[in-house]
Amino acid sequence: MEEKVLILNFGGQYDQLIARRVRECNVYCEVKDYTVTLDEIKAFNPIGIIFTGGPDSVYAENSYHPAEGIFELGIPILGICYGCQLIAHHLGGSVTAAADNSAREYGKTLTTYDTDCLLFKGLPEKGISWMSHGDYMEKVPKGFKLTAHSDKCPNVAIADKEKKLYGVQFHPEVNHTENGTRMIGNFLYEVCSASGNWTMEGYKRRAIAEIRENVGDGRALLALSGGVDSSVCAALFAEAVGKQLTCVFVDHGLMRKNEGDEVEAAFKKWDINFIRVNAKDRFLSKLAGKTEPEEKRKIIGEEFIRVFEEEGKKIGKTDYLVQGTIYPDVIESGKENAATIKSHHNVGGLPDFVDFKEILEPLRLLFKDEVRALGRELGLAEYLVSRQPFPGPGLAIRIIGEITEEKLDILREADYIFREEISKAGIEHTMNQYFAALTNMRSVGVMGDGRTYDWAIALRSVSTADFMTADFVRIPYDVLETVSRRIVNEVPHVNRVLYDITSKPPATVEFE
Ligand code: XMP
Repeated sequence: MEEKVLILNFGGQYDQLIARRVRECNVYCEVKDYTVTLDEIKAFNPIGIIFTGGPDSVYAENSYHPAEGIFELGIPILGICYGCQLIAHHLGGSVTAAADNSAREYGKTLTTYDTDCLLFKGLPEKGISWMSHGDYMEKVPKGFKLTAHSDKCPNVAIADKEKKLYGVQFHPEVNHTENGTRMIGNFLYEVCSASGNWTMEGYKRRAIAEIRENVGDGRALLALSGGVDSSVCAALFAEAVGKQLTCVFVDHGLMRKNEGDEVEAAFKKWDINFIRVNAKDRFLSKLAGKTEPEEKRKIIGEEFIRVFEEEGKKIGKTDYLVQGTIYPDVIESGKENAATIKSHHNVGGLPDFVDFKEILEPLRLLFKDEVRALGRELGLAEYLVSRQPFPGPGLAIRIIGEITEEKLDILREADYIFREEISKAGIEHTMNQYFAALTNMRSVGVMGDGRTYDWAIALRSVSTADFMTADFVRIPYDVLETVSRRIVNEVPHVNRVLYDITSKPPATVEFE
């Protein structure tokens, strides 16, 4: 059985980041709401608990507090920011609003650490930490030692070695904190005595055994989109139950160049039932004349379900529907949602049309980078595993205005050239998503001796941590120049190439 760490979320913004750091240290963890009861915590049986930050003051009315008795369980605890203040508050210290700003700290702060403290063992004595707190610990609880300070604040970290309780005012999980991951690693290995048994090789073995046990001699159905999540899911099931799995790959004709064939080729090595439905004509005829982005999205989403439904009926009764839900979706779905900017279409959110005995989600505990690692472990082709995100509605939401076959061809070629040049320049790692879009603008140009009146291609490239906000990438001009020259020379009916220098917000990542 896996050793587990429990991350108690008190409403901070970094709960997922903390979880990712813990997993990067090869220790399994789960994020749970601060409301979990003492019995639930005992049943979970963690080797350590991490309290996240939170937006409130520990004294605020309705502020969040952990289950009573949590400090008496004998389980090591690391409190981060608000989590640190909770430890101080509950164990007889005191927390104060830094009214005169003297101890209020935001941003990068030079911090001095006591390297005798297990949390900072083996680290440099001084380093930058990322602070973001209005309140601070005024009085340290009995039994605790001060283990870090900054110029402004004497009480940056506290430790009770005997009770294995640790608190830091700063955020070790964010990249701005130097050696932050090592501090988390120290908590896991030095304080909680973790052995570090969370690896994708182990996960693969257990997941396969579990799938075999669950599915028995039943049949499973999976909608394969060619994206990383559904591909890894398919590979895992293929490995586990082979022919009992049917993958339905709906090729809506809105994929990038060669994508449909690549997806099909990647699954050749497994003996599964692979159905590719070439539904391009259906989708294009439904989309004919449509220009409004939301309408296009709805049409594609609905048509997708219709096609899948028809295939499902042909296949007959299936016991399990497999979905590629991943851990960030699971965590997010437990939170209040912000306003809907666009109606997302995902093959993940498939309907309840056929009656399945059960829905299986074998990736629901994994982060994206872990899903990729699992894909590699399963021997999936690298181009599938490292694929950048591609929206369910495909190129339809990268063509402004009406979608036609001719426009799709233009866009496919331009996008391919852009991706090829980014790869040749070796700068993929500087961007999280990059693609070409086809604007609905035609303008005058000159080619040879002739006048042209052709389309403008827009290039987009963003860097982002979470896709909620994003920056445009400063692609070197010489790379842009090569891309532009190749596109106007090699792609008929394009005479201009534009580069989108808008961030999100106010723009979005997609160009629709
Ligand atoms: P936006 O354009 O909303 O994009 O800033 C944020 C991220 O979401 C992706 N995206 C989608 N993914 N189905 C998906 O699976 C969709 O309908 C969809 N729309 C946008 C987009 O590619 C970017 O990564």
